[in-house]
Amino acid sequence: MSKYTIETQHTSVSNLERQDLLNAMMYRHACKKFDSTKIIGEDDWNAILDAARLAPTSLGFEPFKLLVIQNKEIREQMKPLGWRIQAGLEASHFVVILARRKQELEIDSDYITHIQNEVKELPEDVQNLYKDFYARFTTEDYKTFESERAAFDWASKQAYIVLANMLIMAAYEGIDSVPLEGFHQDNMTHLLGDELGLFDTKQFGIAVMAAFGYRGEEPRRPKTRRTMDEIVMVK
Ligand SMILES: Cc1cc2nc3c(=O)[nH]c(=O)nc-3n(C[C@H](O)[C@H](O)[C@H](O)COP(=O)(O)O)c2cc1C
Repeated sequence: MSKYTIETQHTSVSNLERQDLLNAMMYRHACKKFDSTKIIGEDDWNAILDAARLAPTSLGFEPFKLLVIQNKEIREQMKPLGWRIQAGLEASHFVVILARRKQELEIDSDYITHIQNEVKELPEDVQNLYKDFYARFTTEDYKTFESERAAFDWASKQAYIVLANMLIMAAYEGIDSVPLEGFHQDNMTHLLGDELGLFDTKQFGIAVMAAFGYRGEEPRRPKTRRTMDEIVMVK
């Protein structure tokens, strides 16, 4: 078994477990104030990272990377570049979810070759099938290669699934969180990538960020959502 193989346990999910998960989803809220003295334990944090790793991605390409910013000085430098991220930058853990750019998503790029050969260990004939399918997918079906932006946004969509998995796992553990888009994407990419050299901006851009920790106050407002009738159409 290679280091890329995940051993799955096929257990059934009982009603009790279902309610536990729903309770976690109701407990989760966009935390507006973190208690910066409370730090997430290692096991709890690792489970959140496991949830990220287990996220589904289109074609199984996993076009994301997690940049965890624990350095206080870097966090201070990030503060002026956002308008709704300041509370999150006080939290126990702060994650920048990076998405790969178009050059990384080309079928013969080093990255996709790595996924096909080492991670998935696909035989050559299957890889050739993928090639044809992927060419159609990127130019006709989903047009993900229509522009640099389309490719990056497609990778970012996968990053948001990663985000959702992390938020839900955190809530399941009683850990608070906030997803973060309240910042200037280009300026933040420039700071973290070009100035601080934390990632290569030719390969990656910032899809979204998130903070994890413990609430410093209870949610200010009760949770509101549209009714099921407004959300679901059955035909
Ligand atoms: C992708 C995304 C980006 C968000 N960006 C921010 C943000 O920058 N700052 C913030 O305080 N809340 C942010 N939120 C939180 C939303 O405002 C919040 O999830 C929404 O109002 C629903 O409230 P709830 O999460 O408490 O149920 C973001 C949520 C999502 C999903």
